[in-house]
Amino acid sequence: MSAQPTISSERSIANNPIGVFDSGVGGISVLKHIHALLPYEQLLYVADSQYAPYGSKTNAEIQSRCLAIADFLIAKGAKVLVVACNTATAAAIDAMRERYSLPIIGMEPAVKPAAEASKNGIIGILATVGTLKSAQFAALLESYGRNVEVVTQGCVGLVECIERGELTVNSTKELIRQYCAPLLAEGADTIVLGCTHYPFVRDLIAEVVGQDIVLIETGAAVANQLKNRLIETGLLSSVQQSCEVNFWTNSKAKNAKQVIERLWGKSAEIKTL
Ligand code: DGL
Repeated sequence: MSAQPTISSERSIANNPIGVFDSGVGGISVLKHIHALLPYEQLLYVADSQYAPYGSKTNAEIQSRCLAIADFLIAKGAKVLVVACNTATAAAIDAMRERYSLPIIGMEPAVKPAAEASKNGIIGILATVGTLKSAQFAALLESYGRNVEVVTQGCVGLVECIERGELTVNSTKELIRQYCAPLLAEGADTIVLGCTHYPFVRDLIAEVVGQDIVLIETGAAVANQLKNRLIETGLLSSVQQSCEVNFWTNSKAKNAKQVIERLWGKSAEIKTL
């Protein structure tokens, strides 16, 4: 019979880190919300940039990457995992939940909040092709997209621009213009940023679509959901001091550290995976 955890071992697990990962640097947009809401939690972040984008990979390829990263984070002591990637959640969260017993938080495009926010009943979704063709996304539309017109657009190449740190250049703006045009042509008044990379080009998107269009992202909601889950499971840290974040990346790019620090907003310890 396996030993029952004692109160002291439960406490020590609660002070273990939270493991967060994405296909690359996009999940840092979620990490920022988590750090702001839960400043006393130790955070581990893995950017799987060598394998980005996930959006053009098969479910089996994405599952294999997610399980490898989860193994890594769990070996580092993660008490809970956050899949800070819509594409990875759609392709791999079921496989992860089958393999691991720790809490795993995923994310999906904010169809429900967008449907509620839209005044004219037309919403646009910008996401990866992988997310848009997933069974999870079809189920999401079935549940929350029935009473609105939903215009979807896969944004091939946009994740790569953000991975390269090209956040304000004309070529990125042109790509955004191209992808937003069909949503605007259909009259969408609300646009979902359905990929965690896209909040890093939110200003460019706003410039392209204009200030009247509501842009919706999910980072804050994921952070709230994580906090509630930590409370429910008794895993909220009892430490009362601000924690730094440990980053790992397998990017081969020369500017990988610079891109992560720019997105994170300050200098950071970044190790090679
Ligand atoms: N940040 C990931 C997401 O939220 C990007 C996926 C990709 O690498 O294509 O979907």
